[in-house]
Amino acid sequence: MPPRLQPLLDANLIEDVVGQLKSGKEAEVYVVLSAGEYRCAKVYKEANNRSFKNASQYTEGRKSRNSRDARAKNSGSRHGREERESDWQSTEVEALTMLASAGVRVPKTFDYYEGVILLEMIVDSEGNAAPRLNDVTLTKEKARECHTMIMRQVVLMLCAGYVHGDLSEFNILMAHDGPVIIDLPQAIQSTANNAFRLFQRDLVQLAAYFSRFAPEIASSDYAHEIWKLYENGKLKPDTKLTGYFQHSTKKADVRGMIDEIKAVEEEELIRRGVIKKPYDKKW
Ligand SMILES: Nc1ncnc2c1ncn2[C@@H]1O[C@H](COP(=O)(O)OP(=O)(O)O)[C@@H](O)[C@H]1O
Ligand SMILES: [Mg+2]
Repeated sequence: MPPRLQPLLDANLIEDVVGQLKSGKEAEVYVVLSAGEYRCAKVYKEANNRSFKNASQYTEGRKSRNSRDARAKNSGSRHGREERESDWQSTEVEALTMLASAGVRVPKTFDYYEGVILLEMIVDSEGNAAPRLNDVTLTKEKARECHTMIMRQVVLMLCAGYVHGDLSEFNILMAHDGPVIIDLPQAIQSTANNAFRLFQRDLVQLAAYFSRFAPEIASSDYAHEIWKLYENGKLKPDTKLTGYFQHSTKKADVRGMIDEIKAVEEEELIRRGVIKKPYDKKW
């Protein structure tokens, strides 16, 4: 019995531990028997075993419950570690719950107890834990279909106010009925300063993966297309997408803008009687 799962057994949230799935970067995931069915129990590794890359790009703008917690988080204390730890977990639970209710294909969450999340087990057509996208080979048609499905999920996520932040072939499972998105502790609000940068990185990573099977996907630009619609308040869950984005070819006329500002300033100075005539101007 993995010690971290004992509290769940004691609280009757799980009946048995069946085995461990492949350990990921930040967490260990076990198959457990819970309420008579197979579910997954996600246990975060201790903070010091973990490798969240440049954590601050995700945590910027997150709020702490109070200033003591906020101070602790920036320190090396045990309380600080626990605070950082529970931040990632509660972000994941919150994101999974919100996204499921927005119709995004993510695992259902059943419970969150003593630092362990109990999740729906995503299964393949034989009822086994579903493989990651990275572990499957796709035909060209299947790759296109799957990429299109994921772009739709990404639109639904953005409509619900979320950017995944670590979306790749390692965090998408191929279920019997299509791709399912997992692993959301680093999810960020779409209103955060760096949201577009992370959104674009997610989509570029996916395009790189899918273009191994369907090369034309490499030249698509869903990131700019979707983000522009989103910024203009035009993104809806069923908005049609082309994968194509026309970047503006008009060069910004910086010189013209500076002249314009100077002219306005000059007019103001004349109006206030500070300088006399427009032909006094020195530039
Ligand atoms: N709900 C689930 N159903 C089936 N397998 C899962 C589920 N959640 C996670 N896994 C498996 O556990 C692995 C690690 O989980 P993940 O949430 O990606 O954590 P990590 O941060 O460690 O990458 C995944 O790659 C996947 O194989
Ligand atoms: Mg993962």
